[in-house]
Amino acid sequence: MTERLAGKVVLVTGGTSGIGEAVARRVVAEGVAVVVGARRAEAGRALVAELGERAVFVRADVTVEADAEALVAAAVRELGRLDVAVNNAGTVTAGGPVQGIDADAWAADLASNLTSVFYGLKHQIPALTEGGSIVNNASIGATTGIPGMSPYVAAKHGVIGLTRSVALECAARGVRVNALVTGNVDTPLYRGLLHAGPDDDLGEAPNPSQRTAAPAEIAAFVAFLLSDEARFITGAALPIDGGATAG
Ligand SMILES: NC(=O)c1ccc[n+]([C@@H]2O[C@H](COP(=O)([O-])OP(=O)(O)OC[C@H]3O[C@@H](n4cnc5c(N)ncnc54)[C@H](O)[C@@H]3O)[C@@H](O)[C@H]2O)c1
Repeated sequence: MTERLAGKVVLVTGGTSGIGEAVARRVVAEGVAVVVGARRAEAGRALVAELGERAVFVRADVTVEADAEALVAAAVRELGRLDVAVNNAGTVTAGGPVQGIDADAWAADLASNLTSVFYGLKHQIPALTEGGSIVNNASIGATTGIPGMSPYVAAKHGVIGLTRSVALECAARGVRVNALVTGNVDTPLYRGLLHAGPDDDLGEAPNPSQRTAAPAEIAAFVAFLLSDEARFITGAALPIDGGATAG
């Protein structure tokens, strides 16, 4: 592992599962201190116990603004400051054609996938100094339509607009904000959408590479984006999708 992130303090939401957990493991391997934010306290405490003394768990629901603020406060209070953040948590609540989606399900998808990123940015940006970096996990559904997932897709499209606007607001002071256009990744969320169990063969994913990514592949790209090696990349919506959005 390189030293490019060594000494930094990273915050990651949805950090007890899938891509978020892989990011937490990856950045700790690169020498950072990490605040893991998630709703499941038992899983969160077990993960930070494994990651070591430079890992802190904070129970946080990203749809609650006070929790977003508390995550930043915990980084500053317990680890000295905040350098980088990964707004990763998200869910798919509503499925099916738009005429069957009720307002509560629509609101839930917007809250967990878009308002959550707004709350994160609002409280993370003031805490970041020059060299700070944020990665927002969007989706291939942020740049393309997906039938039967319109609330999620609308929210993820919003993440790109939010990312670009906030990146422009803070580029001059050396703080970067980027979004991932993430494709098919083997996580509980993806398996849930396919109704597949943990040991089921997922078959070929619907992308030109005909496979799903491992969460660690996404985490490797996130670690690069968080580092100073990526210091000329900001306001970008970056595909990591096996070619899914290339056509
Ligand atoms: N897996 C894929 O194929 C894929 C594709 C595109 C985008 N994404 C995005 O990647 C991100 C991570 O998803 P994943 O695939 O790792 O799924 P996952 O279900 O393994 O992880 C998501 C995590 O977010 C947490 N979370 C959800 N709502 C939350 C809330 N309100 N407060 C706090 N935590 C909350 C979940 O509990 C879970 O720990 C999501 O934003 C998802 O939309 C995933």
